[in-house]
Amino acid sequence: MIAIGCDHGGLNIKTAVIEYFKENGIEYTDYGCDTPESVDYPLYAYQVAKSVSDCSAQYGIICCGTGIGVSMTANKIKGIRAAVCTDEFCAEMTRRHNDANVLCMGGRVIDEAKAVQLADIFLHTDYEGGRHDKRVQMITDIENGNFVIKD
Ligand code: RB5
Repeated sequence: MIAIGCDHGGLNIKTAVIEYFKENGIEYTDYGCDTPESVDYPLYAYQVAKSVSDCSAQYGIICCGTGIGVSMTANKIKGIRAAVCTDEFCAEMTRRHNDANVLCMGGRVIDEAKAVQLADIFLHTDYEGGRHDKRVQMITDIENGNFVIKD
């Protein structure tokens, strides 16, 4: 299950990604918005991030004008590693190295075809683990207030 949401600035690319989900039989929950009327992106980013955080969804995809506001919001939620991606390399590497669980994209930055391409890469790339485990754990420790700087 993939959780997806957007504000008005990301509605175009979210619609394209949902079309890709339908064509490929990927199950999803759409948290809105559904119209081009101006809305507040934290409302949608919060709902997607919460559903990943509580394991209702495996991954989240959130779209706004730049991808930045939704990523800032999502990264406030426990357990969320949200990454703004604008190209294929970043979409792949944030899964392989950061174990990102939320992909953020901007409808005023990339077009519909690129958004679908990045979503496809993100959803089909595995985390590498290994040396990256320690680094991802450091992010978690910072989030939990347990981080200690060692000499
Ligand atoms: C909405 O105009 C815009 O601010 C929003 O979509 C997003 O880009 C914020 O980061």
